[in-house]
Amino acid sequence: MGQEKDYSRYFVAPDLKAAKKRSKDGVRVIRFEDIPEPMRDAGRGKKYLIVTYGCQMNVHDSETMAGILEQMGYEPAAGEEDADVILLNTCAIRENAEDKVFGELGRLKQRKLEKPGLILGVCGCMSQEEVVVNRILRSYPYVDLIFGTHNIHRLPHLLMNALFSKEMVVEVWSKEGDVVENLPKVRRDGLKAWVNIMYGCDKFCTYCIVPYTRGKERSRRPEDVLAEIRDLARKGYKEITLLGQNVNAYGKDFTDRDYTFADLMDDVRKIGIPRVRFTTSHPRDFDDRLIEVLAKRGNLVEHIHLPVQSGNSQILKLMARKYTREHYLELVRKIKEAIPDVVLTTDIIVGFPGETEEQFEDTLSLVREVEFDSAFTFIYSPREGTPAAKMQDDVPMEVKKERLDRLNRLLAEIGRRKNEALRGQVVEVLVEGESKKDPNVLSGRTRTNKLVHFRGPKHLIGQFVKIRIDDPQTWTLRGTLVGEASATGAGA
Ligand code: 5AD
Ligand code: SF4
Repeated sequence: MGQEKDYSRYFVAPDLKAAKKRSKDGVRVIRFEDIPEPMRDAGRGKKYLIVTYGCQMNVHDSETMAGILEQMGYEPAAGEEDADVILLNTCAIRENAEDKVFGELGRLKQRKLEKPGLILGVCGCMSQEEVVVNRILRSYPYVDLIFGTHNIHRLPHLLMNALFSKEMVVEVWSKEGDVVENLPKVRRDGLKAWVNIMYGCDKFCTYCIVPYTRGKERSRRPEDVLAEIRDLARKGYKEITLLGQNVNAYGKDFTDRDYTFADLMDDVRKIGIPRVRFTTSHPRDFDDRLIEVLAKRGNLVEHIHLPVQSGNSQILKLMARKYTREHYLELVRKIKEAIPDVVLTTDIIVGFPGETEEQFEDTLSLVREVEFDSAFTFIYSPREGTPAAKMQDDVPMEVKKERLDRLNRLLAEIGRRKNEALRGQVVEVLVEGESKKDPNVLSGRTRTNKLVHFRGPKHLIGQFVKIRIDDPQTWTLRGTLVGEASATGAGA
């Protein structure tokens, strides 16, 4: 932590095999201490840029890195040109995510040539992969620093090493880290905040690289999570999203208490923050008690993101999802019974190795049955080191693309129908800012996370308003301002 002086560990490379192991060791909670003297001023007069790829976990990690860099005296850069440190916070979930980063690294060579003092760093999930680190060492030798997802708190030390070393500094821990509290954060705005509740994933779905890049499941203690949320409420935040790769496993690693995700949600419900979301949940661990707590509503919104991945039990088995189509549909039935106006969204992979036309059609029929309001859909991408990468795959890419297309068309049709049902209804919207396309239009989100555009005065930004929906689109809603709201109760 802050106090240890360790300039010797210049080269610690990742090891996917080691990352797969799950130790029985208890999780240590450590505190991020003040940055020691020589490092605290290292960034004075200098600027940083963090480029973030991938999921919300990465977005939030970038907020932490920004917090650390600002404690070192760095200021945010307006763009690449005036940055003295550029960090690429990378995503390893699919091949195209990785390709983007390699493309950026290639392009940034020119920047390094123009400004030799520039520190170029690579962090995030890709850094946890041996193949990636080897490729950077071989083909992008001008990179100054590589670190992983478990040692973000070591950023001051690593940056100092990178500043003084002629060699590439590589420090990637393959054994999961501890839980680090008291990390500084620079949050994107004063309205919505991410709050980590747990790190890592022990599910090992056969296609997924995340359990290797993010380590074993480790929960933050409820008192730390609740204190952070109370602090955000005091600061006037209107919405929080609780973050974890598999939030339903929250608390399973506690040895000193019996406290689950449902307990946490029930406690967060009592805090005066208007909206509480969470992501991502796994259907297998989604229990009745959680449904019961969510049905109490209040600040717990009527939106659940529940990745299904496939509608066919055989494919689900090959994916090691540990539930069947029937189990998923039964869970959805229970959720809808308890929360009739719930909005369900999901993640779906098409073209898993060996997926037949019939198996894919099971996915279509499940989508029709559940009626998801929207979904993130992906073509399966083999990840080196995962079990699925070794599975025989005889599905041609054109077939996979065509399936993705059919699935997306079905989702659009359902999305349109669902939004059409909101025509004429008045919904509660948290106004986030000007619309991206037209500064005269404001945008915000419903409790169910639907994007709403409407005309209104700018002083409404940051407020809750009531909007009558009069022009529903497939993925967005347009409406008319009918009043201010107090942010309680349920809406669309
Ligand atoms: N190929 C395609 N999609 C993947 N996902 C995870 N791993 C892969 C992969 N190898 C998708 C899953 C997950 C989402 C975050 O990314 O749908 O829920
Ligand atoms: Fe990956 Fe499955 Fe864990 Fe989600 S639950 S992060 S898909 S291994």
